[in-house]
Amino acid sequence: MNRIRINSTEGKSLLVLGGTVNDIVPLLPGRGLFIITDTNVSRLYGNSFPVGEVLIVEAGERSKTMETVEGLCRKLLEAGADRSSFILGFGGGVVCDIAGMVASVYMRGVRHAFVSTTLLSQVDASIGGKTGVNLGEYKNIIGTFRQPEFVLCDHSMLRTLPEEEFRSGLGELFKHGIIRDRNLFFDISASAEILAERDPAVLGDLILRAVRIKAAVVRRDPLEKGPRRILNFGHTFGHVLETYHRIPHGLAVAQGMLIAAELSVWKGEMPHAELRLLQVALENAGMIGGYPLPSGVVSMIARDKKSESGSVNFVLLSSVGKAVIRKLSITGLQEFVNYYTEKDSQSQQ
Ligand SMILES: NC(=O)c1ccc[n+]([C@@H]2O[C@H](COP(=O)([O-])OP(=O)(O)OC[C@H]3O[C@@H](n4cnc5c(N)ncnc54)[C@H](O)[C@@H]3O)[C@@H](O)[C@H]2O)c1
Repeated sequence: MNRIRINSTEGKSLLVLGGTVNDIVPLLPGRGLFIITDTNVSRLYGNSFPVGEVLIVEAGERSKTMETVEGLCRKLLEAGADRSSFILGFGGGVVCDIAGMVASVYMRGVRHAFVSTTLLSQVDASIGGKTGVNLGEYKNIIGTFRQPEFVLCDHSMLRTLPEEEFRSGLGELFKHGIIRDRNLFFDISASAEILAERDPAVLGDLILRAVRIKAAVVRRDPLEKGPRRILNFGHTFGHVLETYHRIPHGLAVAQGMLIAAELSVWKGEMPHAELRLLQVALENAGMIGGYPLPSGVVSMIARDKKSESGSVNFVLLSSVGKAVIRKLSITGLQEFVNYYTEKDSQSQQ
């Protein structure tokens, strides 16, 4: 078991990697515990829940709405939750985003923590204190920053993940190597077959290395004012593809990372050979499908939260293992999208 601490100006968080629910019971309050989970996780892991009131939301991205947050707040109120109550989000990224949001707004904020049950949430979504829900087709437009007191990642729970969700998590795992650690990228690529067996020890080592990267970035910039933006690599196009094609988050991010890598080459930031390296690794890991960009993608991006007065902060690569942040005009972005869409449609023929 490994413990990582995030001590930042915005609060403290303890990450417990490779433990089990028993390891976090001493960190929970004796009473006033409310567990927020989803329909699948409660069915699979309900027996492992600590003693507390259980609130269940429908599994899936569609639950990430203000209506869900409001409904949960109402249930908390009816069940007598007060400012001393404690919320434990028990699930994947969707549950963590919703439970974190509820914890940060209910009675102006109550204590909270997560048991993180998907690969994607163990490497990314449960860590760092970003909460959020979607507004129509716009992802995570409403949200807050609030660090969970602790996050437990029990890697043995990843065995029950459906194949597509596991591969989705690989997308975010890869991302950490691609933006910050070339060796991690190569090690994930080399482990693709072993990873498929979901051995908790092999997974645990790679997850630990990715989480260390995320923790270091969050410690430096907890409110995403600057350097933390590199964690959004692949997300600008990824969010559009996720919403438009209704594909799992990490698969959309993987595709978004490839498009952002193409953009990096187009802008002269990265040599073409690095793009090929990325393409081959993601293809071998089974993560690339033919998901074309929808028309109007640039105006969707411009309205997305990353747009500021006619330009977008874009995370590009200078090589695999090194992300850089660049400001890009919306006009420049449109030129690239025209180029990319043309090239993409030719390669599909
Ligand atoms: N807050 C952040 O910093 C952050 C970062 C990255 C992604 N996210 C968000 O995370 C969400 C995606 O998270 P996700 O991929 O975990 O999706 P998810 O929470 O929807 O989980 C995927 C599916 O797996 C099921 N599941 C969960 N744990 C399981 C287990 N152990 N065994 C079997 N099934 C299980 C769920 O019920 C669901 O059907 C997106 O909404 C994304 O925006 C947030």
